Amino acid sequence: NQKRLTACRSDISRHNAQFLALFESLIPANEEKVKQKQLLTLLEKLVGKQWPESRLYLYGSCANSFGFSKSDIDVCLAMDLQDVDKSELLLKLADILQSDNLQNVQALTRARVPIVKLMDPVTGISCDICVNNVLAVENTKLLRDYAEIDVRLRQLVFIVKHWAKSRGVNQTYQGTLSSYAYVLMCIHFLQQRRPAILPCLQGMEVTYFETVGNIECSYFDRVEKLRNFGSRNGESIAQLVWAFFQYWAYCHDYANDVISVRTGSTLSKRAKDWTRRVGNDRHLICIEDPFEVSHDLGRVVDKFSIRVLREEFERAAEIMLYDPNPCVTLFEPY
Ligand code: GTP
Ligand code: MG
Repeated sequence: NQKRLTACRSDISRHNAQFLALFESLIPANEEKVKQKQLLTLLEKLVGKQWPESRLYLYGSCANSFGFSKSDIDVCLAMDLQDVDKSELLLKLADILQSDNLQNVQALTRARVPIVKLMDPVTGISCDICVNNVLAVENTKLLRDYAEIDVRLRQLVFIVKHWAKSRGVNQTYQGTLSSYAYVLMCIHFLQQRRPAILPCLQGMEVTYFETVGNIECSYFDRVEKLRNFGSRNGESIAQLVWAFFQYWAYCHDYANDVISVRTGSTLSKRAKDWTRRVGNDRHLICIEDPFEVSHDLGRVVDKFSIRVLREEFERAAEIMLYDPNPCVTLFEPY
């Protein structure tokens, strides 16, 4: 059995070309990036007229380099609110955008993260605008910087996100994980490889520093100096996809451990006091936010969905080992 396993492992690389082709097919074309910029420029013009001191930032998958083609864009409006009420501001913003031919403009003032939604008929792009969610802008930069270090992170994330969307386990409202959580799982996993494929940027000399409220966002961001970091590890993308699922199926200690990109390691649940249910936070899979360290990205996972998730990890690990055509079977709709 051990022999068979070893043979399978070395054989997995024969699927590399297929995984790479899948990755290439998911990357947005350049024209799409151009259209996104075009929409951002239009929004800047409209918002700037009303609030000259404000700024707009792209965040989320359109800016962290992990966005699929044809995805929506996330925009953050940053401004000094003083004593303006956020809901009022969003209603005003919706008004302004509506009068400029943008379609389906809607202010969702009671959402967990209040936003204005819209669709631009010229570019066909949909967009969510939030206000002062500056931490998301910071973690977007951190993710993008990690992606610059080793191309295998971007490849792995695209494949994992595609798998999660195909298998219905990328839906926070159903107790499964956000794309952001999956990216952190991929970074953590590549930090753990031996030799490591990614460093721990927050454990290095500080070259970038911002504070958001009382949260310090600081890390080494001269990532162009780290382009060779993972070169001592020759693992192929197919091997990493298999090892990723293997890790989450059989190697992670769900009962005791918290994954922490910030420290490049795992922490104990006990040390973070994430051992019992508090309010809605159940901590059945623990993923520490790199900046907002009291925030567990796994908080949405419940007793039922943790089983679904772990069974999906196991299914994927088995397919990578034994299925003749993993690049198809892995992504079969659930
Ligand atoms: P897709 O839209 O699925 O392609 O992925 P995405 O990268 O846009 O991820 P998602 O929609 O999950 O989140 C958008 C952005 O919001 C992320 O990139 C993060 O910057 C931020 N974000 C999402 N969830 C959280 C969260 O729970 N906490 C914090 N602090 N930020 C979050
Ligand atoms: Mg998004």
